[in-house]
Amino acid sequence: MKKKVTVVGAGHVGSSLAQMIVQDGSADVALFDIAEGIPQGKALDLSEACPLWGSSSSITGVNDYSGTADSDIIVVTAGLPRKPGMSRDDLLAANAKVVSGVVENASKRSPGAVIIIVTNPMDVMTQLGLKVSGFDPKRVVGMGGILDSARFRTFAAWEMGVSPQDVEALVLGGHGDLMVPMPRFTTVKGVSLTTLLSAERINALIQRTRNGGAEIVSLLKTGSAYYAPAAATYQMVRSILFDEKRMLPCAAFLDGEYGVRGVYTGVPALLGSGGVEKIIELSLTEQEEKDFAGSVEAVRQLAGKLGL
Ligand code: LAC
Repeated sequence: MKKKVTVVGAGHVGSSLAQMIVQDGSADVALFDIAEGIPQGKALDLSEACPLWGSSSSITGVNDYSGTADSDIIVVTAGLPRKPGMSRDDLLAANAKVVSGVVENASKRSPGAVIIIVTNPMDVMTQLGLKVSGFDPKRVVGMGGILDSARFRTFAAWEMGVSPQDVEALVLGGHGDLMVPMPRFTTVKGVSLTTLLSAERINALIQRTRNGGAEIVSLLKTGSAYYAPAAATYQMVRSILFDEKRMLPCAAFLDGEYGVRGVYTGVPALLGSGGVEKIIELSLTEQEEKDFAGSVEAVRQLAGKLGL
């Protein structure tokens, strides 16, 4: 039997992710949305594409949580996206309601699943998902760092005129305005960015990465990014489904790592069938530590607004 992934939210991120999963036949998908007809219509359309993709995955659109039962992974994309001028944090109250309802209903029907939270403000929504599900923190993880790192990779590749696939990057901290792109750990085929570009150019790339989500919101005007967020989530889904143990920057629950306790934030993590199997601790410079602490504190304060 194929593994089963529930994708909650049949908007742009959810349906793009569902496409990626079924296109290469990695798992069966339950696409859940409260809007009647939307998940069913998208699932039917994707089912009809499967013969063309040579895929034997099945996808079902559902409005009832019973259709999500016994999933191996639950991905939560449901919630409002930003409008131009809004920060991710402005979505806190509206999306907290959505995420807690979704996690409560989906987690009890798939008690062994790994939950991946995508909804913004992502780090705090992940912490909420942990509380509502009552799962082991290893099985509740947030998507942000892979997306932010992919943006940093893209901008660095453009700057140097090299293929983005030869650029590896790391962004730590919360998936918010204070995220911490790490040039020291960003490399072109192993060569650190700090030896390839001036501090001024690196700074410009950092600023563009921090503003990467907002840049797209200001262009689209009616929504936020979805292809790269879906592709980033797909990497996490695959690493868990196939127990790949990839080292990916994700929002993980820190319990003393990096000197931080009781809060979700972006760190390099090994993702396997058990969820977050290991958090990798890097030794940071004084400035990196300061930036990381500032980002963690912003997440902590926002989480405090929900009493988390
Ligand atoms: C972004 C939103 C989805 O970074 O958080 O594009």
